[in-house]
Amino acid sequence: MVIKSIGVLTSGGDAPGMNAAVRAVTRSAIAEGWKVFGIYRGWEGLINDDIKEFSTEDVSNIIQRGGTILKTARSDEFRTPEGRAKANETLKRRGIDALVVIGGNGSLAGAQQLAIEHDVPVVGIPGTIDNDLYGTDHTIGYDSALNTIVDCVDKIRDTATSHDRIFFVEVMGRDAGFLAQNSAIAAGAEAAIIPEDKTDIDQLEKYISRGIRKSKGSSIILVSEADGGAMHYAERVKKEYPNYDVRVSILGHLQRGGKPSSFDRILASRMGFAAVRALKEGQRNIMVGIINDTIINFPVARAIKVDKPIDKDLITLLDTLSI
Ligand code: F6P
Repeated sequence: MVIKSIGVLTSGGDAPGMNAAVRAVTRSAIAEGWKVFGIYRGWEGLINDDIKEFSTEDVSNIIQRGGTILKTARSDEFRTPEGRAKANETLKRRGIDALVVIGGNGSLAGAQQLAIEHDVPVVGIPGTIDNDLYGTDHTIGYDSALNTIVDCVDKIRDTATSHDRIFFVEVMGRDAGFLAQNSAIAAGAEAAIIPEDKTDIDQLEKYISRGIRKSKGSSIILVSEADGGAMHYAERVKKEYPNYDVRVSILGHLQRGGKPSSFDRILASRMGFAAVRALKEGQRNIMVGIINDTIINFPVARAIKVDKPIDKDLITLLDTLSI
């Protein structure tokens, strides 16, 4: 099928850099002579025909903005076969030949379902702060969120040092520990508690037995939301080591907001451009990824099925540098 018209949508949690991706998809497609339709509120917008044809001006002045101008949603209706059938009807009615879907695991799983059931050509772009998609070293938004977390931890450290306190700082990441592990390294924190580091040894015990506060007056421990969260560990320390002065800081949604970093803007621009090129070359049901700084096309089915592993060297690195 020769593509003449595409739709672009953002779905799932917003991530800094999504706008840069929407801009790149729109302008690359218009440069091919294709029509581009911006679909609002993710799959909800496709089901309800909340759609606007985009010109190059519609994506002006957005590369530096966080969030997504297309808005986003987590759609329950699209999870049903009826919802997906409605979405497909909109595509047919509008004459939209293919879709570019910018989002995380759940959004790409939805894209895969639509492709299987209704034979819609779909290309995914990994957009999530969690960095949890297999087949890409980086997802759009991860670097920006990491920078935000590190800024926050730098500030928390002022209080931690002034008061000789232990801070448990909880970060997002859903089931993955990339944000916790790498922000701990970047912020010079004392430890990270992440789901990927499950061993027989309790992570808190491991840290405490290594000598919590032996040589330092204060400590910062990054805790992944997946792993019981910061409150859980703070409560344990309060109970098991009542002499320590413990505080919790849950960073929450401020991690998702703000301007995208230069890294995310460039990544999103490269991926948006590559998504259009992939469709032009007849690629279907792939996710654009980046491996060793090279853009690749990766089967969506594998990206959403395989758990992305964390490099165990990062765990050793943090353990070594935080002594
Ligand atoms: O997937 C991105 C993410 O921010 C996760 O890290 C987090 O668990 C989740 O979304 C929060 O979702 P919501 O904004 O719907 O509460």
